[in-house]
Amino acid sequence: MSSDPEVPAGADPGTVCPMELPPTIGVTGAAGFVGSHLCERLLGDGRGVVGVDNLSHGTLRNLDRCLNQPGFRFVEMDCRDRRGLTRAFAGCQAIVHLAGEKIPRYGGAVHTLEANVDGASSVYATALLLDAHVVLASTSDVYGNTAPPLREDAELTLGPPTTRRWAYATSKLYDEHLALALAEERGLRVTILRLFGCYGPHNHPSWWGGPQAAFIERLLDGEEMEIHGDGRQLRTFTFVDETVTGVVLALDTPDAVGEIINVGAGTTTSIVELAEAVQRAVGVPGALRAVFIPYESIGGRYQDVRRRMPDTDKAHRLLGFRATIGLEQGLPPTVAWHRRRRDEAGGSPGRPELEFAARSSPEGGPE
Ligand SMILES: NC(=O)c1ccc[n+]([C@@H]2O[C@H](COP(=O)([O-])OP(=O)(O)OC[C@H]3O[C@@H](n4cnc5c(N)ncnc54)[C@H](O)[C@@H]3O)[C@@H](O)[C@H]2O)c1
Repeated sequence: MSSDPEVPAGADPGTVCPMELPPTIGVTGAAGFVGSHLCERLLGDGRGVVGVDNLSHGTLRNLDRCLNQPGFRFVEMDCRDRRGLTRAFAGCQAIVHLAGEKIPRYGGAVHTLEANVDGASSVYATALLLDAHVVLASTSDVYGNTAPPLREDAELTLGPPTTRRWAYATSKLYDEHLALALAEERGLRVTILRLFGCYGPHNHPSWWGGPQAAFIERLLDGEEMEIHGDGRQLRTFTFVDETVTGVVLALDTPDAVGEIINVGAGTTTSIVELAEAVQRAVGVPGALRAVFIPYESIGGRYQDVRRRMPDTDKAHRLLGFRATIGLEQGLPPTVAWHRRRRDEAGGSPGRPELEFAARSSPEGGPE
């Protein structure tokens, strides 16, 4: 037990803030894109929050507005450390599990598989010990190439394991199975959210953060956006505030326990339309500043999904959730955040994807 009166019992050496309110919600991946917005929302709602992150992709800058709040405690740690996680989340009634790896665009799949499988196992073990409700962030990628609109009980059509991108979907699908098996056999209370691609401030400024982040950074660098394939692939894009609303509704809806629920917007946009909207939001006049990169020249194992759109009925029926913010509304604050971030870094900070590996065209299309 810590002898420092500022640090609560059970807090790890990585603890950044003292905690003055009882923690009620634990958030893994708190310093990441969705996690940082979720922490802000929960604190704004008057709840105590313990945020955990190993800062592998996230940054404490994302938590600027949380770190000095009395209801917030941050613990830098790997969520796979079960004992540490149980100490960090002691007293939490619910855990939102957002920490994880995404499509392995810049490297091998071992890390994705291990991080997602071991991370979720650790969170479930912790939740069982603490009797906490888990909200798991799964992904639309588990639908693979299934034809839309994608219902939660649809047959799933993943591509082959020889294509690295499917490691992400497979690991999240394992997390879903394990959660439901633990619910049935050991009483885990869990709600599974299949998040569809979202965007907004705090996103990683590379393809790790999805097409909006990658396109905005390109244009701000005075370069062309890179569109993979013909750009006619369809996605839905949800502004992060609305994704967070879906997560909070899932936390607060007892009937959602034991359910799988899509959280995403109901209207599709092609990647070319997205690029056009980003160019307008950045304020670059003239013809589309984009280069089209054929799938074949990206690498032998590239696979994209042509059409991805959630069936949103269940989210509406169970949670009362509907995403309504369009790109014209959501992109301006997103662009403004990218600009601010670059200004604070004293100009273009370069492309963080270079931190991952020296590859110009990462594998795997957007979620
Ligand atoms: N953003 C999207 O569009 C989207 C879509 C579908 C699913 N998801 C899922 O939602 C979750 C959050 O996504 P995001 O966009 O905020 O990602 P993100 O990468 O911005 O945030 C994830 C955070 O988890 C942290 N992390 C990774 N491994 C960890 C570990 N082992 N221990 C502790 N912390 C760890 C990272 O440092 C990062 O801050 C992810 O699980 C992702 O798979 C996101």
